[in-house]
Amino acid sequence: MSLYAIGDLHLSLGTDKPMDVFGGEWDNYVEKIKAGFAKLRPDDVCVICGDVSWGMSLEESLEDFRFIGALPGKKIILKGNHDYWWMTVSKMASFFEKNGINGVDILNNNCYFYENAAICGTRGWLTEGEFDTEHNQKIMARETLRLRASLAAAGDAEVKLCFFHYPPRFKDMVCADMIEVMDEFSVKKCWYGHIHGLGRKFAVRGIVGGIDYEMVSADFVDFEPQLVM
Ligand SMILES: [Fe+2]
Ligand SMILES: [Fe+2]
Repeated sequence: MSLYAIGDLHLSLGTDKPMDVFGGEWDNYVEKIKAGFAKLRPDDVCVICGDVSWGMSLEESLEDFRFIGALPGKKIILKGNHDYWWMTVSKMASFFEKNGINGVDILNNNCYFYENAAICGTRGWLTEGEFDTEHNQKIMARETLRLRASLAAAGDAEVKLCFFHYPPRFKDMVCADMIEVMDEFSVKKCWYGHIHGLGRKFAVRGIVGGIDYEMVSADFVDFEPQLVM
């Protein structure tokens, strides 16, 4: 049994925004995702770090969820900035159930347990530099509460792992709110996505300030879920 993470599948099976138009790594990306997930076994778990589907509603995303549900292993999904289909957890769960999509869970104000570890996290946000606006600070305050709720739900789990959509560190930007909460709950490792293309060279990876950062945007990891533990 293994735990994996990948972000930014950007599926568009029921809509008209396939990422293949960008070429390069995104060429034939749905097949690459299938191939990348082929190594997972049914009892493996993969956290999908946001930007899951281009659909604007659950209905528009149905084909993407069917695709995700059919991939091997259980999946835990968190929200990205492009997940416009996102609804309340109860609506999403009943939509999955109604449509026979099994083994897909939502990470939102909660956590999941995996061996001695707790899988925690939230979307995150940007509030540094040009993004430092009152509006963005409000969103960040809400995200901080979500991360805190998720980590609190982990109780006394031996290891607390954090998954984000937005990177808590990028280039010289530091998301102090998210890092403060991770420190408070003794989080030592986190995974994130969101960054694509040229931005990837500014990704913070490795240990900074006692936390190990890893970027798992699909196009950065060749569409292959990355081993967490
Ligand atoms: Fe993305
Ligand atoms: Fe994103």
